[in-house]
Amino acid sequence: MKIRPLPGPVNELLNQVGASPRLVAHLALTHELALCIVQRLAEQWPGLEYDRQAVLFGAATHDIGKTCCPEELTGPGKRHERVGEELLLRAGFRPEDARFARTHGQCCRESPLEDLLVALADTAWKGKRDNALEDALVERISRASGEEPWRVYLVLDDLIMALGHEADARLDWQRQHPV
Ligand SMILES: [Fe+2]
Repeated sequence: MKIRPLPGPVNELLNQVGASPRLVAHLALTHELALCIVQRLAEQWPGLEYDRQAVLFGAATHDIGKTCCPEELTGPGKRHERVGEELLLRAGFRPEDARFARTHGQCCRESPLEDLLVALADTAWKGKRDNALEDALVERISRASGEEPWRVYLVLDDLIMALGHEADARLDWQRQHPV
């Protein structure tokens, strides 16, 4: 199982705010999935325009608010979303990068492609499917690339299936890290 390191500035911030090993592991997994997703999109639609760095940053930081809401690391809750955005803004990150902490759990058809891709990374790592999210992505990518929606769906479906093959190993690996 390949898990590339989180970007340096993100690692520094996670240290500063005392992020737990479980949270760091989860962010590393989501970031790895985002790397796989942007790489596959680049192979399939090299002209597709979106901010790849923003997607990677968003995946690497989306749950950072859970450092202030530790109960949401193991249970449900949305308080970490707003708290995470505020934490990133206070640390000096740009609003357009900090927003993913707030948007990753509330994507809809109107969401920008970057936000949908962060939500996909945060869903696909554990082998979960989200039809509404996938429909929004098909529509968005089809519009931006000029590819027929059914062709976009086939590529996305293959990608999400492939990413799901290691879901159990990822869940085990994440669980080994203390909360
Ligand atoms: Fe997450």
